Amino acid sequence: MTKPAPKTFHVKSFGCQMNVYDGARMSEMLEAEGLSASAGADDADLVVLNTCHIREKAAEKVYSDIGRLRRDDGSTPMIAVAGCVAQAEGAEIPRRAPSVDIVVGPQAYHRLPALVRAAQAGKAVDTDMPAQSKFDVLPARRKQGPSAFLTVQEGCDKFCTYCVVPYTRGAEVSRPWQAVVDEARALVDAGAREITLLGQNVNAWQGEDEAGRAQGLGGLIRALDRIDGLDRIRYTTSHPNDMRDDLIIAHKEVATLMPFLHLPVQAGSDPILKAMNRSHTVDSYLRVIDRVREARPDIAISGDFIVGFPGETEEDFAATLGLIERVEHALAFSFKYSPRPGTPAAVMEGQIAGPVMDERLQRLQALLNSQQHAFNRSKIGIRMPVLIERNGKKPGQRIGKSPWLQSVVIEDGPELGAMVEVDIFAAGPNSLNGVITG
Ligand code: 5AD
Ligand code: SF4
Repeated sequence: MTKPAPKTFHVKSFGCQMNVYDGARMSEMLEAEGLSASAGADDADLVVLNTCHIREKAAEKVYSDIGRLRRDDGSTPMIAVAGCVAQAEGAEIPRRAPSVDIVVGPQAYHRLPALVRAAQAGKAVDTDMPAQSKFDVLPARRKQGPSAFLTVQEGCDKFCTYCVVPYTRGAEVSRPWQAVVDEARALVDAGAREITLLGQNVNAWQGEDEAGRAQGLGGLIRALDRIDGLDRIRYTTSHPNDMRDDLIIAHKEVATLMPFLHLPVQAGSDPILKAMNRSHTVDSYLRVIDRVREARPDIAISGDFIVGFPGETEEDFAATLGLIERVEHALAFSFKYSPRPGTPAAVMEGQIAGPVMDERLQRLQALLNSQQHAFNRSKIGIRMPVLIERNGKKPGQRIGKSPWLQSVVIEDGPELGAMVEVDIFAAGPNSLNGVITG
């Protein structure tokens, strides 16, 4: 049975910002092949589900999403499953869901056009982690909004005992210095004023500059700071053990590096951190936070937390709350522990019952939400530069970002991509309200 070549496509990305970046690159690649983007999944000849495997019943969700792509007349578009579920499940996916035509892992998606051609004749599965980097063969960047993602590092060698990333994204790899600088320039030429450097362990980035000198992420950020037209640099996600001096000092010295640090600690109890194989302690994490705050006193600290890791006692959990009280987070993401097949923690003793996790998560989130609201309120009465990123719901309303990554709502705001000085007059739990200074 042969299928017609698709003319239109739709990419749907789930999960982390790296998937958003990958999804954008897949779209560019399909456009370069002559396909055009459709408004939604319903009218696309090819639908790419760019999946996430980090938590919960991710694979189950993918199967129900696949089911929902069936149309009223019983037909299905050409379906590609990409991302981390694709990597983890591979050929199992079309066996369970025969309407899936293509399975492509996160390290192989540059081969998507060839897989689309192959899928016209039969199932096409590619979960290789090829030696040649996909970045070398992806097409150049073209159009771009004011804020862009740029993947500089992928994979993880840390093997936290709860995490699938080392298995789905592979070993830690840094993209070369020049490739990153060139892509950043291309993004700025295409309209970006802010770039967020992405990596599962972005602060483990390492490379050599033009002169062959060893550099870390701090050096790379200094190089990007020299690009005309690039006003804001951010990076995520970082590991406490990779927070090196050059990066910390960059927070003091590089004006375009925004005062925001996403530095997940996961838990505030040493025995749990040890069982998680985090390779840092509460104390070493707090020392990093102190040094960062010394370099940049107004820096906003963000994090990730897992509650209900196997063996977590009420005392361990209380220690996590205590750490949050000490650090004061501007933003945080918190999750119930979710056993991932194949990871060591999934078979550990002392799995925590659902209701206990629910209750702990509620308490943790209440504390984090109150800290986030307090941080937002601390900006009332302050004047700050805001980068306008999107339209709000009301006519004329614009939404931009503060230096501390807060959303700022402005009535009758200027065009997208403008950088404006804004006076903040109100703060909610999730956003600020401001007026452009007269
Ligand atoms: N269960 C719950 N949360 C997890 N995370 C990663 N793996 C798991 C898991 N098995 C969370 C961590 C990580 C974030 C991206 O997702 O907090 O920092
Ligand atoms: Fe997963 Fe830990 Fe690596 Fe982060 S550092 S990607 S949590 S294994």
